[in-house]
Formats: sequence, C-alpha cells, structure tokens
Amino acid sequence: MNILRSNIASMAGYVPGFQPPDGEVFLKLNSNENPYPPAPGVVAAILAELGSDGASLRKYPCASSGRLRQIAGDLYGFDPSWVIMANGSDEVLNNLIRACAAEGEEIAYVHPSYSYYSTLAEIQGVKVRTFGLTDDYRIADFPERYEGRIFFLTTPNAPLGFAFPIAYIEELAQRCAGILVADEAYVDFADENALDLVRNYENVVVTRTLSKSYSLAGMRLGLAIARPEIIAALDKIRDHYNLDRLAQAACCAALSDQDYFRDCIRKVRETREAFSGRLRQLGYDVIPSHGNYVFAVPPDRNGRSVYEGLFQRKILVRHFSDPLLSPGLRITIGTREEMEITAAALEEIG
Ligand SMILES: Cc1ncc(COP(=O)(O)O)c(C=O)c1O
Repeated sequence: MNILRSNIASMAGYVPGFQPPDGEVFLKLNSNENPYPPAPGVVAAILAELGSDGASLRKYPCASSGRLRQIAGDLYGFDPSWVIMANGSDEVLNNLIRACAAEGEEIAYVHPSYSYYSTLAEIQGVKVRTFGLTDDYRIADFPERYEGRIFFLTTPNAPLGFAFPIAYIEELAQRCAGILVADEAYVDFADENALDLVRNYENVVVTRTLSKSYSLAGMRLGLAIARPEIIAALDKIRDHYNLDRLAQAACCAALSDQDYFRDCIRKVRETREAFSGRLRQLGYDVIPSHGNYVFAVPPDRNGRSVYEGLFQRKILVRHFSDPLLSPGLRITIGTREEMEITAAALEEIG
C-alpha cells in the first residue's frame, strides 16, 4: 500500500540522545541540560496559572504568546514584532524551513553540528548540503555566494563547543543569498552573540532556547528574533496555540528573573573551566568551550571505551559514532560536585 510520501517512507528519522527512564539513577551529562533548577518563581507561576482546581486549563492559551514577546523583546532590545515564541527552538527551525524552502530547493548546515536540520529538511523534500570545518574552525569551501535558501550556523557549535567570531558570522551573512540562521541554543554560556546582525542584515535570524540556560528543557520553550516580515511569515504557519498556558507562565517567570539566570550561567561557566582543566591534566585534548558542555578526546582517542567505562559507573555522556567525532565525547557541565565525580571516574578509567 502506497500511503506515505516516498521521502517520509524512506527517511530514517532523528534519534535524540538516550533519555533513561525516570527513576534510573544516572548522572545525566548527555543532553546538555542544566544541573540547576529553573528560577524559583517558575514553579510558583505554574501553580498560580493552574489554580487550585486547574480551571484555567479549560481555556485556550494566548495564541500569540504576546506577553512573552514583549518580555523577550525588552530583554534583547527589540520591538515585539521582531520576536516569535516557539514550542522549543526546534519548532521555529522547522517553520523556517517550511517558510523559506520549497520542495527540491536547498538548505545547508555545518558538519558536525545539529543534524536535526537535515531531518526537518527531508520532511519537506528539501535538499540538504553540508559544509565541513577547517582546522581553525571556519567553514571549508564556503562559496563566495551561497545560493541555497537557508544556511544554519550552530554557534556556539554543538558538539564541539567553539563559537564563530561575530565578524566572521557577518561575513557569512553577506555571502548568503538566502537566510542565515544563527542557532544560538548555547549562546548564553558564551561571550558574545549575533543579535546586532539581526538589526543590520535583513537575512539574519537568531534562534534561542530556554532548554539549556534557563533549565526548562521539559517545558519546550524557544524563540526567534528576525525582521518583522520574517516573523509574520512564521506566525502564519505555526500551530496557532503553540505554547500552552503552563509553558507561557513558566517562560514569563524565567525570563523575568535575570539575577537568578546570571548566577546559574556564572556557575556553569566556572565549572566548565575547572573541569576542562582537570581533563587536560588527565591528558585529554579539550576544545575551549563556549557552551554548557565540552568536547574532549582521551589520550588513546577511544571515545567509545571511555563512554562505556562511564556508563558502567552510571555516568551518561554523549558518544557519536560519526568518524569525525568518535575519538571523543561530549560531556555536559553539571554541578561542581558532579564534575568532580566524573573527573574521578575518568581518572580511574585511565
Ligand atoms: C544546536 C541546537 N539547536 C536547537 C536545539 C533544540 O532546542 P529546543 O530544546 O529548544 O528544541 C538543540 C537541542 O539540543 C541544539 O543542541
């Protein structure tokens, strides 16, 4: 029976990192989640929205997430018409492809980076091109003018952790005929961001998530900042009630508590530097990271065996079978104590 579109029937589908069932005691350093709880006001805001009997849930949420656009706009220095809220940044990445690339047209991204772009493109029948990296972390063989519809740039790069300099991202924006998406999922842990480029270049879109720096992966919250024409197009095609009531309440509380946010970021960055130092003492090759994770290669370049050694000790990190990445591991930065446990385990594994 021929009931599926042929590209859907033949595609593999994205495989997210392993999520152990709730109750399994792993030290979970495989999905770049934040080790600290969300801002204290988040739980209170969710409970207030719920009320004692959950009556508010009878009613649909605000379709535009208008209050959140205002708060995010104020935070980043943009009019709300430049902001769209999303059910995780994955939703807005998907809708960017749907809005800008027709079947048979092309999008591109960097390999290695976030391979989900490829899955999203395949669903739409959009062609995918990948560009590799040079030894000094620039895009290899990027054309003088890239004619594809979208170029996705994960910066800081995941899983490697380096960040592209803003001047270089600007140069790429000038060389893209279509949209340049700066996927800044991890940028809150970095030193600089590409928001100014959105102001200065009409083809630049920045995407952000609350999953990492705001400790809200479980609520599914993301956003994009772009020219109002692009935001209006994304608004036409998104699910009209894309953020539920509890997510909107949580988002509002999280974005409003910038003191708590900054404190969390500071702790993660400090721990990242301390842990990177420990890894180097153990002979690991560690790429200086701008995210909440490090990519590290053990002395024998056998990432798989270190992964297994950690797994036996109930520590879960990310190992990729891709030959470019398989010598190393991506390790999420947890609390100071968690990283001491991890460093001790790595020392034992040898
Ligand atoms: C580079 C990158 N972009 C986007 C996402 C998706 O984030 P969200 O949880 O907001 O959908 C992730 C998640 O890990 C990511 O690593």
